[in-house]
Amino acid sequence: CHNSEKKYRIGVSQCSNDIWRDKQNSELRMGAYLNDDIHLLFATADDSDERQVQQIDSLVAEGIDLLIVAPNQVGTISPAIDRAYDKGIPVIVFERKTDSKKYTAYMGADNYEMGRLMGEYVASRLNHRGNIVEVMGLKGSSPAIERHNGFNATLKKYPDIRVVATLQGDWTEPTAYNITRQWLMKNAEQQVDLVFGMNDRTAMGARKAFLENLKESPSLGGVRGGIPLFCGIDGLPGEGGGIQLVRDSLLDASYIYPTHGDQLLKLAVDILEGKPYEKETSLMSAIVTHDNARVLQLESDEVMRQSQNVE
Ligand code: FRU
Repeated sequence: CHNSEKKYRIGVSQCSNDIWRDKQNSELRMGAYLNDDIHLLFATADDSDERQVQQIDSLVAEGIDLLIVAPNQVGTISPAIDRAYDKGIPVIVFERKTDSKKYTAYMGADNYEMGRLMGEYVASRLNHRGNIVEVMGLKGSSPAIERHNGFNATLKKYPDIRVVATLQGDWTEPTAYNITRQWLMKNAEQQVDLVFGMNDRTAMGARKAFLENLKESPSLGGVRGGIPLFCGIDGLPGEGGGIQLVRDSLLDASYIYPTHGDQLLKLAVDILEGKPYEKETSLMSAIVTHDNARVLQLESDEVMRQSQNVE
């Protein structure tokens, strides 16, 4: 006897499909449980600019009241976002940035700072001396650009640390594996002390390549003293997440890249209801090392169990 139509339809346009996005989507869903007025429509572009543009256009055509978007690259998605904004649809850009000023609010962590702090960690971990390979995220995506700038600006302060290679990845493990494999084939004698993968999947892909190389040519272990240390970013909880990888010493360190879907949904609701909101929200974050990984794992297991109960 009652009207089950929800008051607000929110379109969520994710650039990729992976465990980081899964966590965020489930937090958004959780946020929507607390609000009877919200209906969420999810779209994932699987790292394709074209697909993301189409998906945003079709979300708009379906009649959404607000768009939440993580744009794949800085320049390529802006036309679709601008079209939505120009139609009067509020737009929240989150986590990745665009080159357009047409958005209602932005929420995300400071990727430059994250790169900078990772640079400081790496420098002190290597006692300010050693060779580093950097494996980048997708070319043209804002976190890859900012993490790279922060990391390299910091390492320039240490003359005995050398970034011997910067390899172009795309946030995925298979690409990181392939490019590292190719690089190792041409640089077999190069001493590498540490690999910074711009996310944990990238770091693990590079690790797989180093391990395989060592297995095929055990004598290289002598050249490089075994395999290097690996650092990543994301620090996800749960099975196979960065926290566990650091706890189990597969990664040396990671950096928690906050998802905060619940906070994102609250921002969306505030905008829809005409309440005051922050235009730019910078999310706080923290480094994961062997010293705190066990505690972080315990805490996040607890949070995950509670949210599963709620669900
Ligand atoms: C998830 C992800 C993360 C990475 C971030 C960069 O889709 O690839 O692993 O930290 O996006 O935007």
